[in-house]
Amino acid sequence: MNYPSLSPVMVAATLAAVVSLAADRDSQPMKPTLTKATYGKLPEGTLIEQYTLTNAKGVTAKIITYGALLTELHVPDRAGQLGDIVLGFDNLESYLAGHPYFGATIGRVGNRIAKGQFTLDGKTYTLAQNNGPNHLHGGLKGFDKVVWQARPVRAKNGVAVRFTYTSRDGEEGYPGKLTATVVYTLTNDNELRLDYTAKTDKATPVNLTNHSYWNLAGAGDILGHELMLNADRYTPVDDTLIPTGEIAPVQNTPMDFTRPKPIGRDLKQLANDPQGYDHNFVLSRGDKQMNLCAVVHEARSGRVLEIFTQEPGVQFYSGNFLDGTLTGKGGQVYRKHYGFCLETQHFPDSVNHPNFPSTILRPGRTYKTSTIHRFSVR
Ligand code: GLA
Repeated sequence: MNYPSLSPVMVAATLAAVVSLAADRDSQPMKPTLTKATYGKLPEGTLIEQYTLTNAKGVTAKIITYGALLTELHVPDRAGQLGDIVLGFDNLESYLAGHPYFGATIGRVGNRIAKGQFTLDGKTYTLAQNNGPNHLHGGLKGFDKVVWQARPVRAKNGVAVRFTYTSRDGEEGYPGKLTATVVYTLTNDNELRLDYTAKTDKATPVNLTNHSYWNLAGAGDILGHELMLNADRYTPVDDTLIPTGEIAPVQNTPMDFTRPKPIGRDLKQLANDPQGYDHNFVLSRGDKQMNLCAVVHEARSGRVLEIFTQEPGVQFYSGNFLDGTLTGKGGQVYRKHYGFCLETQHFPDSVNHPNFPSTILRPGRTYKTSTIHRFSVR
């Protein structure tokens, strides 16, 4: 084979070009991109697509049409090194084999409904009891296990994809044909924005959320992550994790995250089994539409996650049920507390608690809610 010979001048020029290209990457924004690829196939033949969103700073989010589920999110650490900070798998088969809602869009109703029952406008509805005696995360085949229709949409300051799913009247026991959408937007300011809407033809409860498991270090347990929750109250639960109805102050309890503290600091005082946080916090509301929900800081990587939401609550779950039986991306074994969730939402079992903010959507009205995840370093 003949190799073209390079003169020393050409080598120097080439090197200079490479160096200046590298410098440009740091200083100058790249063009945001949005691509689509086949991710896998369901046993019945439906193709599942994966959308890859990359912003002007190189931050990348990947979402699949199965469960409108965030499979990867690569954000920089203090040194500018990108790392994947969400738990999940490398392939569709692993998601199909069963998992604790990694990255998924949750619906029709996120979190628990006591005994799988509620009464609306005088009629009693019975849902699957798929979590001990209770109904969890939309039932046996919730929105995390269905195929969503995806379409790229315009975004002012980044790239975006809209996922749409129509749930038939009576699906999983819920009344009304409900069309739900979630738009994932990755902005050039390193924000991952989730904008949800829903419409129904019969009154129904709706409570959509995202179930991403975060690990800002990219591996290991999350007990050292510092968490601040903008919540001075929470909803205590019984031993099946159903709210008692009380709204209690966090002060002088392990639930107090009003000032940042490591997740693991007071966790050992909790009495539940498996031990850890799995509680709904009542967010303190300011006068802004988008309220601060949480700030998380991981000291070694320097990564910071700030969450803003329009929802009244957030379920803080410290990955208590992870037990080392699942092996995820890159062969990582997911042990207890290797990821945490901050599920912005209405309170659990709201349909059975008239004193909680209502989750009922009626025909002619549009359900609309947004949550922003902002990434930075400190
Ligand atoms: C939610 C629940 C938890 C658990 C996880 C999934 O966060 O509140 O109890 O079921 O989902 O394992």
